[in-house]
Amino acid sequence: MKEIQKQIDDLREKLRECDYHYHVLDRPLISDVEYDRLLHELVALEEQYPQLITPDSPTQRIGGEAVEGFGKVTHQIPMLSLSNAFSEADLYEFDARVQQIAGDHVQYVCELKIDGLATSLLYEGGVFIRGATRGDGVTGEDITQNLRTIRVLPLRLREVQDIMVRGESYLPRAEFARINAERAQKGEPLFANPRNAAAGSLRQLNTAVTAQRKLAFFAYALVQPEGIATTQTQALAQMEQWGFPVNPHYRKCASISEIIEYIRFAESVRKTLPYDIDGVVIKVDSFALQTKLGMTAKSPRFAISYKFTAEQVESRVRGIELSVGRTGAVTPTAVIEPVFLAGTTVSRATLHNEDFIQEKDVRIGDLVVVQKAGDIIPEIIRVVKVERTGTEAPYSMPTVCPVCQMPLVRAEGKVALRCVNPKCPAKQLEALIHFASRGAMNIDGLGEMIIESLVKAGLVQDVADFYALSKEQLLQVDRIGEKSAMNLVQAIDASRRQPFERLLFGLGIRLVGEKAAQTLARHFLTLDRLMKASGEELEGISDIGPKMAESILTYFRDEQKRALLDRLQDYGLRFDTDLVASRALIGDGPFAGKTVVVTGTLAEFSRQQAQAMIEERGGKIANTVSRKTSYVVAGESAGSKLAKAEELIRANPELPLKILNERDFIALLDLQQEVISDRE
Ligand code: IVH
Repeated sequence: MKEIQKQIDDLREKLRECDYHYHVLDRPLISDVEYDRLLHELVALEEQYPQLITPDSPTQRIGGEAVEGFGKVTHQIPMLSLSNAFSEADLYEFDARVQQIAGDHVQYVCELKIDGLATSLLYEGGVFIRGATRGDGVTGEDITQNLRTIRVLPLRLREVQDIMVRGESYLPRAEFARINAERAQKGEPLFANPRNAAAGSLRQLNTAVTAQRKLAFFAYALVQPEGIATTQTQALAQMEQWGFPVNPHYRKCASISEIIEYIRFAESVRKTLPYDIDGVVIKVDSFALQTKLGMTAKSPRFAISYKFTAEQVESRVRGIELSVGRTGAVTPTAVIEPVFLAGTTVSRATLHNEDFIQEKDVRIGDLVVVQKAGDIIPEIIRVVKVERTGTEAPYSMPTVCPVCQMPLVRAEGKVALRCVNPKCPAKQLEALIHFASRGAMNIDGLGEMIIESLVKAGLVQDVADFYALSKEQLLQVDRIGEKSAMNLVQAIDASRRQPFERLLFGLGIRLVGEKAAQTLARHFLTLDRLMKASGEELEGISDIGPKMAESILTYFRDEQKRALLDRLQDYGLRFDTDLVASRALIGDGPFAGKTVVVTGTLAEFSRQQAQAMIEERGGKIANTVSRKTSYVVAGESAGSKLAKAEELIRANPELPLKILNERDFIALLDLQQEVISDRE
């Protein structure tokens, strides 16, 4: 056994050394084939002697463990964010403040701002113990199992140390492209950028999926222990020594002009880097001075981040295409000559609507300046009018729907042209795609392309038709084989159990987004009650405005919609909120385990509603006030129950009993909403 243990130890040591040379030093020691051979040897030994497996073994990166959800981690040292500089003037101001407190010349260090996710890592005795996301800065999520799959992240340090390191988890651009290509093929929604893809991958419940998405990591802060390094540059060198990848492009700068030079450098290499950066982080090098500078409420005073201005390129408009969305809105898109912009090749840019085209005076043939809005969606900023030759063709929007040829309508005061034909195939298709999408019913494998094929084959017209599909029918459709037909039938079947709020969102009621659907489901609890709600009642709910209320009423008045809902109900979809589940979600919220008495007249809710909301949030309703009562919710003209509560409090100030007026009550409900949305 000793012999085996030694063999295993040697293999692990060798693999770790190879990892370090490959990922940190960028100087591979052995070939990939040789590496795989060693790894397999180790896997085989560990399979034979599972009692010898340790969490820091290089074999533990393979993933496969399904986690139920993510636990919470409280950051003993908060994970702060940085304040932003948008101009050189902001940088000079930052420097002036620092100099004032330093009273001396200051040494800075500039680093690339990696566009990924802030990650905190804990090591004990040199072994990776726990890793967490930033969350709200104080509480993050425990993503240890997912982080273990990151090849470049050391599971065991090259020295025995108890440390906490922070850095950025990110997805290299090439990986992002590969993952999206794969998703496109499967008809799954694409990730908008590497950052989103990294976030999605780190929050995967199936760690085998995370392992396939080759995430990476750069360490940028040594949080604990103090005293190992006295400057940021020393800390970076030390972390690299321990085995962390540290971004090599950091540079010491002694003045703002040197910092500006570094920013120019960063801008110039930005496109050539294999990962996304969105700016430069400037830090005071000396830890002693960092401590002296201290913090503001939100961010440290010793560092600032300089965000790049969005990249712009020129291209030529070849034509304008129209698409009809789920709500019938017709959106024009410019087809442009392909150009490389902020990490991707762009060949289309949104024109938003008719007014936008008029305002910018975009004509076919124009040379235009393109930029990515929010770093994601390509958009036309302006036309380079001096380049016009007179051959450019002005564009006007059509008067009929490009898909169904029915007249388009532009409502007064609105910018969108809309196809109002309920049978417009484009709208129907978009509604189907929306229903199956991730935020709604999340039906695995039912992507855009498959849905299009199902419609073409005449198998599906509305969302209820999904639930009547048989495996045999699916097999008739192009691109669907035996296995995917089976999976699809299963996925559709499983979606019947999706919570009411997802179904409500999936119905595609105009203006009702994910959040509003959640609010409605939790307020009314059942479809029946929601359908009976008056406009007034709807508007009485916070976050539901008059327009949304009107749209909801219109939806439920529609005979065809009601018929569709009946069919969905017959197929066994869920039309009520699962109280037990939501109660479990809110186990430690302000009403959990509380006994509450509601008395008097509330302005915003009927008494039944208030009671239902309390119960839904885990509280217990009582009718009489006693020493066991936690809250008395007192509306207008509350009588004897309120008096009893006041008397009890006066006589027994130690009792936890509290009186809530309507405003306090709503504040508590809102607090509850936050607790819920945080967890999801
Ligand atoms: S230092 C006290 N250095 O940018 C904050 N942050 O608001 C310490 N980031 O989300 C942050 N690259 O995750 C630092 N080289 C770098 C960074 C970096 C990316 C991210 C960080 C945070 C944001 C700063």
